[in-house]
Amino acid sequence: QCNLTGDWKNDLGSNMTISAVDQNGSFNGLYNTSVAVMPIKIQPSPLLGFQHLTNPIGQPTFGFTVNWTFSDSVTVFTGQCFVDENGEEVLKTLWLLRAHADKIEDDWKATRVGTNVFHRLEEK
Ligand code: BTN
Repeated sequence: QCNLTGDWKNDLGSNMTISAVDQNGSFNGLYNTSVAVMPIKIQPSPLLGFQHLTNPIGQPTFGFTVNWTFSDSVTVFTGQCFVDENGEEVLKTLWLLRAHADKIEDDWKATRVGTNVFHRLEEK
């Protein structure tokens, strides 16, 4: 069984804490990124998401949004919570970051995309 609640670290060194998942599958948390367009300004930022609850093998899909408090950007993550061959929980995600564009002509350069893999920081 893979459970989203708890502390996670990704391949970039970013940390996040996800709260208890409620009966609707919704959760919130705090994301502390290790990298940013303006790294000097980094601050922990809130996240809000949903996971699917009706998954027969307990490896749910999920999505969450991070509203960066120190920039005008927003990132959405979507992924799946897996149990790997060592019995460790791992989150395989794809993310999209939308940066602020000052004018419509700059829209084309305002989106970044990538993947992140998260591992649990400590057992609950
Ligand atoms: C910004 O620079 O405007 C906000 C911070 C963005 C951090 C990105 S989100 C996707 C990737 N994964 C991380 O853990 N951090 C970067």
